[in-house]
Amino acid sequence: MKKATVLFASPNENGKTKLLLDIFLSECAHNIIIYNMYDENIKPCIGCGRCESLKSCFTDDTEKILSDIFSSDFIIFASPVYNYSFPSPMKAFLDRLQPYFMNEKMNGTRKGFLLASCGRSGKFSIEVIEKQSKIAFSELSTEFFGSYFFTDTDKRTTLHKDEVGKVKKLALQFFS
Ligand SMILES: Cc1cc2nc3c(=O)[nH]c(=O)nc-3n(C[C@H](O)[C@H](O)[C@H](O)COP(=O)(O)O)c2cc1C
Repeated sequence: MKKATVLFASPNENGKTKLLLDIFLSECAHNIIIYNMYDENIKPCIGCGRCESLKSCFTDDTEKILSDIFSSDFIIFASPVYNYSFPSPMKAFLDRLQPYFMNEKMNGTRKGFLLASCGRSGKFSIEVIEKQSKIAFSELSTEFFGSYFFTDTDKRTTLHKDEVGKVKKLALQFFS
């Protein structure tokens, strides 16, 4: 059976991001592992430069998450947009991918998807986090498959019926 690893980066376990993720995962028939990034111990990068020569870093939960990522077929980032980017725990994780930026990439044919929710619908809130995700997926030797944004959450709590249909269709394509 194939495996999907989700990095869930919202501090709200029943918020807008979770709602979007649940709809997406309702079309997933594979094994699913979900990491709540707020529960993981991920030390921030200190820019020591060790990874320029060694593919190693601190010992913390980053390795456990990476081990699941590298044995997965599908990677999903599910996050709210915070200041055009990811919330701090997820940003800390992305900074810790520096060894994979500095060194050769792992072999792999994983597919990656970004699910994000944001209070507004300005193009900056979408473009910046999507660009960051593309870079991260590249460092993880993962093909960026696509993204979906639950926008304008400052003004609403649910997705419209047609949006739910679109999310499910994307999920079916992604997980196939
Ligand atoms: C600290 C903080 C920063 C935010 N920055 C942005 C932003 O830059 N752009 C945006 O559209 N929404 C922003 N928002 C709104 C959230 O992205 C939005 O409320 C999101 O849907 C929350 O998801 P959740 O229910 O999973 O917590 C911000 C919210 C917080 C708390």
